[in-house]
Amino acid sequence: MVAIEETTGGRPAADVLAGVRDVVDPALRAAVATLPSAPRAIAEYHFGWCDEHGNPVGGAGGKLFRAALALLSARAAGGSGQGAVPAAVAVELVHNFSLLHDDVMDGDATRRHRATAWRVFGTGGAVLAGDALLSLAFDTLAAGGDPAGSDTVRRLNSTVQRLIAGQSADMDFERRADIAPAECRAMAEAKTGALLGCACGLGASLGGAAPGRAEGMHRFGELLGLAFQIADDLLGIWGDPATTGKPVHSDLRNRKKSLPVVAALAAGTAESGELAALFARARPLEGPDLVRAAELVELAGGRSWAERETAALLESALEHLRSAAAAAAPAAELAELARLAVRRDH
Ligand code: IPE
Ligand code: MG
Ligand code: MG
Repeated sequence: MVAIEETTGGRPAADVLAGVRDVVDPALRAAVATLPSAPRAIAEYHFGWCDEHGNPVGGAGGKLFRAALALLSARAAGGSGQGAVPAAVAVELVHNFSLLHDDVMDGDATRRHRATAWRVFGTGGAVLAGDALLSLAFDTLAAGGDPAGSDTVRRLNSTVQRLIAGQSADMDFERRADIAPAECRAMAEAKTGALLGCACGLGASLGGAAPGRAEGMHRFGELLGLAFQIADDLLGIWGDPATTGKPVHSDLRNRKKSLPVVAALAAGTAESGELAALFARARPLEGPDLVRAAELVELAGGRSWAERETAALLESALEHLRSAAAAAAPAAELAELARLAVRRDH
């Protein structure tokens, strides 16, 4: 058990992320460079490395948050960050596969402040680029040289299967009205918690941490993932697109039963009933409907529930981190990244 808060010696989050980028970005780019040219160009656009004509653009691309979780979990659990690099690259590849496909499923036009890949290259191209990244993720792990190679690959595979189950439920809920809060939580655990848990647990394992500590890191990541998803759901309703780089109200337009929405629907207030009636309406939800839906989620208590739940999940994630940690400074850095992740969009 490490007393994270009392510890000094952790670097500021920006320095931590820059350090992760120095190690992971070249490995990620080298992996993507092995893809066939058409999916490679689309992936490089999606990552923010190139424009739609294939010309390199300045700027850092994504934050590599999941890679940072993998590297820091390895070090916090007493292992080596370097050993965790294949896990870091693999989870970033899986994450970006899921985003390329998710933007098609959600019909969203913007991500990371730019047009989504399917809008620029068409649905077929975006789907294939996602497929290419998914296959590359497994190749990266298999080539990583871990002695427990097949176990590692199977762990990533079960993560992807959970993510797919979560995405299936997320889409199914658009057409359903009767979502129980526990069912909704299970959807978010699968859709988002599984990959963050895998980043932390697999990173720790590949970094050489003791199995018990790697398991604790896995649980830390899962709980953080759930907190992160609720924070993302809140940003989808009340976030500023200028900050998030994603469309606002798209979830409400799609009648997504996200956690704040399900909390509002389950609250049993007059506003819960009005929100349910709005979602039950046959014709599409337009601007004023979406503004009213957001108001109703708030009036029915969905927003404040989600804010409290995010904070509680973060605290319980940090409890698992404290128990699993063997090295104070990387654990403190990991805790700081976790706090930032539920405050900002990644
Ligand atoms: C993203 O899900 C894809 C996965 C988590 C698998 P969401 O649809 O909830 O997230 P954003 O808001 O588009 O990033
Ligand atoms: Mg989406
Ligand atoms: Mg989605």
